[in-house]
Amino acid sequence: LYVIHIAAEMAPVAKVGGLGDVVAGLGKALQKRGHLVEIVLPKYDCMQYDRIRDLRVLDVVVESYFDGQLFKNKIWVGTVEGLPVYFIEPHHPNKFFWRGEFYGEHDDFKRFSFFSRAALELLLQAGKKPDIIHCHDWQTAFVAPLYWDLYAPKGLNSARICFTCHNFEYQGTAPAAELASCGLDVHQLNRPDRMQDNSAHDRVNPVKGGVVFSNIVTTVSPTYAQEVRTAEGGKGLHSTLNFHSKKFIGILNGIDTDAWNPATDTFLKVQYTANDLQGKAENKKAMRRHLGLSSADVRKPLLGCITRLVPQKGVHLIRHAIYRTLELGGQFVLLGSSPVPHIQREFEGIAHQFQNHDDIRLMLKYDESLSHSIYAASDMLIIPSIFEPCGLTQLIAMRYGSVPIARKTGGLNDSVFDIDDDTVPLQFRNGFTFLNPDEQSVNNALERAFNLYKNNPEKWQQLVQNDMVIDFSWESSAAHYDELYAKSVARARATNR
Ligand code: ADP
Ligand code: GLC
Repeated sequence: LYVIHIAAEMAPVAKVGGLGDVVAGLGKALQKRGHLVEIVLPKYDCMQYDRIRDLRVLDVVVESYFDGQLFKNKIWVGTVEGLPVYFIEPHHPNKFFWRGEFYGEHDDFKRFSFFSRAALELLLQAGKKPDIIHCHDWQTAFVAPLYWDLYAPKGLNSARICFTCHNFEYQGTAPAAELASCGLDVHQLNRPDRMQDNSAHDRVNPVKGGVVFSNIVTTVSPTYAQEVRTAEGGKGLHSTLNFHSKKFIGILNGIDTDAWNPATDTFLKVQYTANDLQGKAENKKAMRRHLGLSSADVRKPLLGCITRLVPQKGVHLIRHAIYRTLELGGQFVLLGSSPVPHIQREFEGIAHQFQNHDDIRLMLKYDESLSHSIYAASDMLIIPSIFEPCGLTQLIAMRYGSVPIARKTGGLNDSVFDIDDDTVPLQFRNGFTFLNPDEQSVNNALERAFNLYKNNPEKWQQLVQNDMVIDFSWESSAAHYDELYAKSVARARATNR
C-alpha cells in the first residue's frame, strides 16, 4: 500500500512528545513491511536540521487557499530515519512555522488548519494517489473533513482516511467561524453529528471531525480506547466515540527499537545488553558523577522520571515520589519541563531547594541525549499518570533495564504488570503498579520496589534482564495497522469508492 502520514511531529527532527516517536516508529515499521510510506510535516524553524539527510527544495510551488486568498508554499524534501519526508514552508505573512516553537501559539488553530489544507494540496498537485492518508491528533484532524469536502471530489479520491488520536485531552476547539479560514463550510460542519463541540454549540472540534469523517479511527492502547468511551474518561467525546465505535479501536504503540537500543546507543557512556549489566552499572556511575550525586553507596537505588510536567502525568505524585525516595534512602533524577507556568515554577522551587543535595537532581528542560543516559543509568522509572493514552517511557525504560513503577491506567495498564499480581502469568510480570492516584499508593509501590532491589539482588537482576528482552518493537502493532488499512481499502474497492 501507499501510505502518507500527515503530522505535526516526527522524531527526531520535530519532537515534543510521544507523537513524534510514533510517526517515525510506525512509519519505519510499515516501510519494513513493504509499504511505500511518506510523511508530510510543517517546515518549522526550530527543527533539528542536522538529523535530515539530503534536504533540498523542490522545483514546484504549491498554492493553497486560506482566508479567501491563495498562498504559495515552498516544498522541501529530505530523508529522516530512512523515510522520505516533505516539509511545507508557507509564504504567509503570519510566519506560521517560524516561531521558535512547535506548539502553544495563540493561533495554533490557524497554523494547523492551514498546514492540513496545504498538505492535501501538495498531494493533489504532485499527482500522488495514496491508498491511505493517516493523520494524527487535532492538528492534522482537519485533513478528514477537508478530504471529503474538497479533495475527494477534485480527484484525490483513491484514499481512505485513518485518524489516530494520541490524547483526547487536546481537542483544539475554536469558535466555529474560524473553520472558514481553511475553506471548510461552517454551516455544514457546525452540527451535532459533525464537528460541533459536544459542550459548546458555537465551537467546532477538530478531533470530533477526525472521528466523524475518517474511515478508521484509532487510539494508542486498548485500555485507553475503553476509558474514552466513558463519561469520566472521554473528555466530552464519549458519546461520539460510542456512536462511531465500529470503526474505533485501541492499538498499543511500540517503540523504535533501533533508536532505543542500549547495545548501540551512542548517547550512552557504555553500551550494554541484558547479558552484560556491568555496562548499565557504568552508566549509573557516570550519571552520578556528571550530576554531582553521591556515589559512596553503589547499591543505592536510582529512580528516574522523564516527562512533560502536565497534570496528566500526576505532577503531585511525582513531587511526592521525590520526597519519599529520599526518606527511603534512594536517589531521584527528574528530566522534564512544563508548558504550565505555575508547575514549572513549583518544580524550579524544588530544584532550588535540592541544588546542593547529594541525592536529588531536577533538570527542568527538554534534552534528548540526557534522556537516553537517564534511562540507562536508572534502576527504576516512575510514571504515576492520572491518565495515559499509551505512554512510551515505561517501554523505553524496560528496554534499558530500568524497572517501571506505574499507575494502572491506559497504556500503562496494557504494558506494566505487577510482579506481585497473581492474576498475571509469572513470565509477563515486569514492574510495580498501583491503582489509586494517591500518595499512599505511590508509597506502597515504591516501598515494594526498594525492598526487592535492596533485599533480593538476584531476583532484581532477573527482573531487569527479563524486562530488557521483552519485545516492544513496532512489529505486531504495525501488523495491526496494516490489517486495518487493507480491510478499509478492500471495502472501498468493493463499493467502488
Ligand atoms: P507524552 O507524549 O504524553 O509526552 P510519552 O510517554 O508517549 O508521553 O512520550 C514521551 C517521549 O518524550 C519519550 O520519548 C520521552 O523519552 C520523551 N521526553 C519527555 N520529556 C522529555 C525531556 N524533558 N527531555 C527529553 N525527552 C523527553
Ligand atoms: C500522547 C500521549 C501518550 C502517548 C503518545 C504517543 O502524547 O500522552 O500517552 O504515548 O501520545 O501515542
